[in-house]
This record gives sequence, C-alpha cells and structure tokens, in this order.
Amino acid sequence: MPNTIKIRVPGTTANCGPGFDTVGIACTIYNDLELTLSDESGISLNVTGEGAGFIPSDESNVVVKAIKMILTKTGYKAKGIKLSMVNNIPLARGLGSSAAAIVGGLVGANELTGGHFTKDDILNMATAIEGHPDNVAPAIFGGITVSIMDSGTANYLRFLPPQDFSMVAVIPEFNLSTKAARKVLPETVPYADAVFNVSRASLLIGALCTGELKLLSHALQDRLHQPYREKLIPGMAQVLAAARQTGALGATLSGAGPCLLAFATNDADEIGKAMVKAFNIHKVKASYQILQIDQQGAVVI
Ligand code: HSE
Repeated sequence: MPNTIKIRVPGTTANCGPGFDTVGIACTIYNDLELTLSDESGISLNVTGEGAGFIPSDESNVVVKAIKMILTKTGYKAKGIKLSMVNNIPLARGLGSSAAAIVGGLVGANELTGGHFTKDDILNMATAIEGHPDNVAPAIFGGITVSIMDSGTANYLRFLPPQDFSMVAVIPEFNLSTKAARKVLPETVPYADAVFNVSRASLLIGALCTGELKLLSHALQDRLHQPYREKLIPGMAQVLAAARQTGALGATLSGAGPCLLAFATNDADEIGKAMVKAFNIHKVKASYQILQIDQQGAVVI
C-alpha cells in the first residue's frame, strides 16, 4: 500500500440563499493536499497559498482531525502525519475552506488505509466534524447537492443543472468565522419567515433542476440568515443590488459569508466589477473570481 497520496478538493458555496444548512454547489476553485502517513512521529505541515503561516499544525487542524478519525476507525497504526497543502480557497470567507480541508483529510486517509469507507460514509464523518452537511456534500460529490440530516444520518441528492451558469464570487479582504456568523442568528423565527423560505428553497431547486434560471431572482431570497448577517458585512445589501442591476440572475451571501455570490449567464466580468466597486464605496477592499460548477468533487490526483 502506498503511504503518500495527493487529493484535490473543490471549494463550495453553501445555502444559496434560502437553502440554509442544506443546499451547496461545488465550485471550480481548488485546494491540493498531499498526505503521507509516515514512520517518523509527529505532525509536519507545509502550506502554500491561502492560510500559509496561519494554519495550525496540531490537533486543532481540521485536516489532522479528519485523518485521525479514519485512523481511529480503521485501527491503522501510523506514527506520523506529513501534510503539504496548496490552497487556493480563501480562508473563512464562505467558500468552503474548512469543508475542503476535512474532506481532503478523510478521502486521503481513507485511500491510504485500504479504502474501507464509501463516499456516503465520508459524508457522515465529514458532517460530524463540520456540524452541517451543506459544504461537505458538494466537496465530496461535486455538482449541486441538497443534503439533510435524518436521525443522525446524512441523506443527499446530487444533480447538475441542464443549463450552464457562472458564479461571480466577490471576496472581501476581511474574514468572518462561521462561528461568529452563526452567533447572530436567532433561536426562533416568525412562522411567516419559515414559510417564505420553504417557498423560495423549493423554487430554487426546481429552477436549478429545470434550467428556469430567470426564477433565481425570486428563488435566492432568504429570511432565515441573511437579514441577521447583514450587519457583519459592510455594504452587503448594496453589493447584492449592484449585481442585480448589472444583469445578474440573482445574488446571495456565499455560505456564512463574507463572500457574496452572483449567478449569471452573461456579463460576469461587469457584474464582478460592479460588486467590487459597491464594496469599495463602503471602504471594503474586495476582488472577484468567476467560477463554474465543479462536477467531480474530491479526486485523487
Ligand atoms: N450553512 C452554514 C452557515 C454554512 O450558513 O452557517 C457555513 O459553513
């Protein structure tokens, strides 16, 4: 059995407006992870790109946590873990960097220890570490995923839309932890807001499945998390409005933010520029990337 493996994992955008903790899309932005289970004891970590100099090399690192979960479950004895990461997914911005780390660790360690676990098992393990399945599911399976927890088990639907679209991800310079972005959410919401989200989330999946993308302007509306998170992201409403005014099909917070995401079939560059400009008006530096749907999810390279 080889003791080194390289895994490529896509970034993801979760929630997609109303699909809080449920809907996710794999995006064409990637982290590469080389994992060696070695005879030399200890954890060694080498990071290039996003997070270099910040990512911890101890047990608090989610990649290490994920690898150890596999080692414990299989009883595989490895003295040391050697990690080399090339990260393109910005950290703590709402593009699934922690899900990519978890999935990379689980998939890599599973391959190196005999491949005992299926992708569905990996989904359940990743969800146990991440806390919700919406980012880890598309990172594993690619495409668009709808994932739910039922009696402690993750169930999911994965599909590709019949019509192509781009996602314009506008990434502000500041980061926001998911923990902080969940802290501002209320314990309960008004019944009318719950109904509002059920209707939009249903329309969202219908629109994406059928390619009726013009419905996204309605289907990306949300009342469960975005109104509460707006105060954490200066200019959020204006940046989303700028996207719509420049021709986006719709625009939304990406995951827990602070990245904002517009869906577009045309004028992606113009939309990105208008969104960056709107952020700048609020004294927030930002850049944009035009992403497509990643269809493969995590792969061995
Ligand atoms: N569904 C999660 C949230 C995604 O919005 O908090 C971030 O990990």
